[in-house]
Amino acid sequence: MLNVHQVSKNFGSFQALRSIDLEFANGVYGLLAPNGAGKTTLIKMLATLLFPSEGEITYNGENITAMDARYRNLLGYLPQQFGYYKNDSPQKYLTYIAALKGMSQAEASPRIAELLKLVALEDVAGKKMKKFSGGMIQRVGIAQAMLNDPKILILDEPTAGLDPKERVRFRNLLTSLARDRIVILSTHIVSDVEPIAGEVIMIKDQRILYKDTVDHLCRRIEGRVFETYVEHDEAETFRSRYLSLSEKQESSRLKIRFLHEGEAMPGWTPVMPNLEDLFIYTYRDGQEQEDKEPAK
Ligand SMILES: Nc1ncnc2c1ncn2[C@@H]1O[C@H](COP(=O)(O)OP(=O)(O)OP(=O)(O)O)[C@@H](O)[C@H]1O
Ligand SMILES: [Mg+2]
Repeated sequence: MLNVHQVSKNFGSFQALRSIDLEFANGVYGLLAPNGAGKTTLIKMLATLLFPSEGEITYNGENITAMDARYRNLLGYLPQQFGYYKNDSPQKYLTYIAALKGMSQAEASPRIAELLKLVALEDVAGKKMKKFSGGMIQRVGIAQAMLNDPKILILDEPTAGLDPKERVRFRNLLTSLARDRIVILSTHIVSDVEPIAGEVIMIKDQRILYKDTVDHLCRRIEGRVFETYVEHDEAETFRSRYLSLSEKQESSRLKIRFLHEGEAMPGWTPVMPNLEDLFIYTYRDGQEQEDKEPAK
């Protein structure tokens, strides 16, 4: 069990995260929040690359910083930007990373073969990565994070740059990996976590706003999401009155999915909210802190 106890993180006078409490058991956790919300900051603390300004993180009751190498042996980590040499093959790259992790050749060789198979790259194991698609590269990234068969696998925006087919494949891979480990992935793309996350964690205003199942999260706005048709010249007025969640052109009219707290009007169809609806509603006032570029 991985626990975050009352963790805050400050960068100088700026507080990126405030009094975070979290608990992770086996399964997939989706850390879902807009840009700049603090996902990477939290993930780097879980990976011991950053240290909490206040509070502590424990694994089975032990402080992860104090566990040092024992913790890192349990950890697999795929950073938001992962570095590799384009001219290397997956085989060569993984052999290099295994050596960095202190694995012997005898240990690394069968493990690499096993992982290349797991991430379905055995056919291109010897090919230069410069010709690989985004999805293939991310699978190499997963393989390197899995070298030590980690109990905790942390992936920071692993689906960035993947095409829809690659996303499906990636989600299936994560589901299978989460059977006997903690898998934490961050993203700002709702559809990457909605089908696979046992629990979704949402950060807002430097705090954990929600940590719950997708089902429970969607229920928070149950009865408030509707669909209706509006004429084009009425769309602007409609949007100023109700929170538009999504819109679709249908023949000459616009089909609008929207949120309204209060009585429904004739012609509105109540619909089951999805996670995307909750995401848009939660961050409707623009939580992005794009003006505060990190000094990474
Ligand atoms: N080293 C740093 N020094 C100062 N501020 C930082 C530093 N790292 C992050 N921040 C700030 O902390 C906040 C959270 O950043 P973080 O990178 O954790 O967000 P994120 O959710 O991962 O965003 P993205 O989706 O863009 O990756 C931002 O406002 C960022 O500017
Ligand atoms: Mg980030």
